[in-house]
Amino acid sequence: MANSNPAYKNLPGGYLFPELAKRTRAFSEKHPGVKIMRLGIGNTTEPLPSSIIKGLGVGVKKLASVETYTGYGDEQGNTELRKKIAEVKYKKAVEKIEADEIFVSDGAKSDTANIQELFSKESIIAIQDPAYPVYVDSNVMAGRTGKIRENGQYEGIVYMPCTEKNGFFPEIPQEKVDIIYICSPNNPTGAVATKEQLKKFVDYAIKNKIVIIFDSAYERFIYDSSLPRSIYEIPGAKRCAIEINSFSKEAGFTGVRLGWTVVPKTLMTEDGANLNSLWNRRQCTKFNGASNIAQEGGIAALDKKGLKETQKVIDLYMKNASVIKKGLESIGIKCYGGVNAPYIWMKCPNQMSSWDFFSKLLEEANVVCTPGSGFGPSGEGFVRLSAFGHPKDIKKAIESIKKNLKI
Ligand SMILES: Cc1ncc(COP(=O)(O)O)c(C=O)c1O
Repeated sequence: MANSNPAYKNLPGGYLFPELAKRTRAFSEKHPGVKIMRLGIGNTTEPLPSSIIKGLGVGVKKLASVETYTGYGDEQGNTELRKKIAEVKYKKAVEKIEADEIFVSDGAKSDTANIQELFSKESIIAIQDPAYPVYVDSNVMAGRTGKIRENGQYEGIVYMPCTEKNGFFPEIPQEKVDIIYICSPNNPTGAVATKEQLKKFVDYAIKNKIVIIFDSAYERFIYDSSLPRSIYEIPGAKRCAIEINSFSKEAGFTGVRLGWTVVPKTLMTEDGANLNSLWNRRQCTKFNGASNIAQEGGIAALDKKGLKETQKVIDLYMKNASVIKKGLESIGIKCYGGVNAPYIWMKCPNQMSSWDFFSKLLEEANVVCTPGSGFGPSGEGFVRLSAFGHPKDIKKAIESIKKNLKI
């Protein structure tokens, strides 16, 4: 008889975004003909730049003839792409990132969810609260936590609150932890860690043999050159940190699917295991490499022309961020983020709860946002607005909020 994995019973009813879609659908069914404007999910909308289309085309064309056809590639990724990522993305790294420390994947979501399986079940994880839900849920599924408490926190997880008071970057945890997840620029708060803030965590991790899992999926949205785009800009990080990144947001690959994870060869667990070897072993067993077409697209995205063209699209999204932020501030709403990050973290007016404000915004302005409480208990009282969208649609949504929202 097959029984289900008991750890799955600890999960809440549904993943945040399907729940949001369900409630939006219910509203639509009740109000047919009302056009809903979406500022909720961080899904890209703009077409891929010509150089990337060309790169993807190279991948397609190669499949069309016996001479150039490729089937399975290396599980770790296309060598040219790995070299290019090392060269283009880690120019500012204190210690050089080598191509064989880079593992190409089908996106950051899978890697952020899978990476936890390299660590013992007893490992105590610490997460920023609020955070991208995958960090918590993947550890719940792995049986690393107990049940969810009434306050929305799981037994066995150390929550690092990110609040208005600490500028949405956490203090070092007080209790013993083994793995720390940090996301910068942060989804959902839009906060970006400074070098000093990251250094505190790196020093603490080295001293206490902790591994940091650093999610830099929004790194290209950092315009301020004094802010770090990679944790490897911090001395010592190669001894304590894994970094996960994605082509989704910076190059519009949300549907194409491509990302990578850096696992330094110098990174060891407390019991002496080499994490680069473990991840390599895991990937070779459970992953058969990213799409060869997508990888050709990735190579094109990191070429000079590709970088220039993707920058234009990033600029467009960041203009959206500014339109959202300025629009909301003009009606007296308090907003964070939206600078060096494509998310605006909006404080719900009149101390409303996140889901109450979600319903109010949908009913009064027909705009969808993402309730902050879906990202963790400290997200209560906030909603996340996303700058990913066509500028025209973003403007319409903000005009509707300004005109129709009663606060
Ligand atoms: C912080 C963060 N990490 C990772 C991902 C997933 O990226 P990918 O599309 O590469 O799976 C997202 C997607 O929204 C994200 O917000």
